[in-house]
Amino acid sequence: MHRRAFCRLAAAALALPAVPRLAAAAAPLVERRITAAPGIAPLFGAPRRPVVIWGYDGKAPGPEIRCRQGERLRVVVANRLAEETTVHWHGVRLPHAMDGVPGVTQPAIPPGGTFTYEFDLPDAGTFWYHPHANSAEQLERGLAGALIVEERQPIAADRDITWVIDDWLLGEGNVLHGDFGNLHSMAHAGRLGNVITVNGQAQPVLQVRAGERIRLRLINAANARIFQLRFAGHAPRVIATDGHACPPHERPEGLLLGPGMRLDVVLDMAGSPDSRFVVSDGYNRGQEGDVATIAYGPEPLRASLRDDPVALPANPLAEPDLGAAERLEVVLDGGAMGRATHGVVDGRRMTLQEMVRGHGLAWTMNGVAAKGHIHEPLLTCRLGRSYRIVFDNRSAWPHPMHLHGHVFRVLSRNGAPEPHTPWADTVLLGPRERVEVALVADNPGDWMLHCHILEHQQGGMMALMRVTP
Ligand code: C2O
Ligand code: CU
Repeated sequence: MHRRAFCRLAAAALALPAVPRLAAAAAPLVERRITAAPGIAPLFGAPRRPVVIWGYDGKAPGPEIRCRQGERLRVVVANRLAEETTVHWHGVRLPHAMDGVPGVTQPAIPPGGTFTYEFDLPDAGTFWYHPHANSAEQLERGLAGALIVEERQPIAADRDITWVIDDWLLGEGNVLHGDFGNLHSMAHAGRLGNVITVNGQAQPVLQVRAGERIRLRLINAANARIFQLRFAGHAPRVIATDGHACPPHERPEGLLLGPGMRLDVVLDMAGSPDSRFVVSDGYNRGQEGDVATIAYGPEPLRASLRDDPVALPANPLAEPDLGAAERLEVVLDGGAMGRATHGVVDGRRMTLQEMVRGHGLAWTMNGVAAKGHIHEPLLTCRLGRSYRIVFDNRSAWPHPMHLHGHVFRVLSRNGAPEPHTPWADTVLLGPRERVEVALVADNPGDWMLHCHILEHQQGGMMALMRVTP
């Protein structure tokens, strides 16, 4: 072999220590390039002024990356921001070095720098990508995009559509409100916006035809807003939670989506030609409103609804052994209007007031308020073993808890079995709710476990779960 070619090969092999080379050779490679950069977003369309944002390729949301299960994805990320960033591939079970957590899995990408992410896609599903550096600000400014992994054999649908749902806090003159570190929202519900967008557009209209079947992938990319979506006149069937198949079912109470969470639904267009329906959000009392409109064209697509099966194939997830599982507990506490009085910061116990005023922290996990990404692991697991994790939310606020590198089953809430025990990487806990999940710790490394309300994450609700061989 030519010496230069050999050196290049050897260097490539060294750069990817965690990836078995056989798999690398076998999986078809998909290559993309994305650039985190300032840009402008129309949000409302003319004549209102566009909003200055940060986005992937200058857009919010960034380009949708579509691949197929079993492929290998390589994304070269360039940073044209004035600050450092990383990209986290939310929900993808990938090797630790590709997880995008600064200081834990990689050095942050400096302004002007690039980083190449490369990993296999073992699971089909709806995933998304976003920064994991200064997250509360970088996501709020618009950095987020969908990562769709199609099944090898997708279900029959006329269209496969993604809705990246977000909210924005805009002030005078359509300018993004700059108060990102606001301590009040940090200690309460997080930063809630005053404009809701779907794929970067406020109040969009989805044009449909009677009889059409749409596979709709919902992604909540908002910093803090929890959505409870209702599709007037329609009965969406949930077929996947956080990307993973579940028995198809309806949710008459609405589709509940905490930040970070996804739902895939099958939407059969049962309305009549020329009719209109609203998709509304009703989670926050007093802030109920329309998110989008569904508008039927004059011509039906077909005379009656499709009845092809909608159940998705399962992903290759390891089923936790509940009998042998060790039990771990994670107590969530802090925030306004709760009973918590103290927390540990940098090894020192202090009052909540000292935490807020001195450190900008208000939340604890097992009594500890974490600063940044680098800390002692809160949980330690042995590779290949099963665990039950009980999240005990003692605070007065909801928390969507997200674990990196793994997928867990949601077993119960306040002791009541969770219908369908769905797979998830993010589970929404209501105020003072206890939720039990189970997983196999099958991915070695230090994995973030945090609240996906990004102001809570920044305010201390972040921890590491270590999986050791
Ligand atoms: Cu979607 Cu740790 O994040
Ligand atoms: Cu939270």
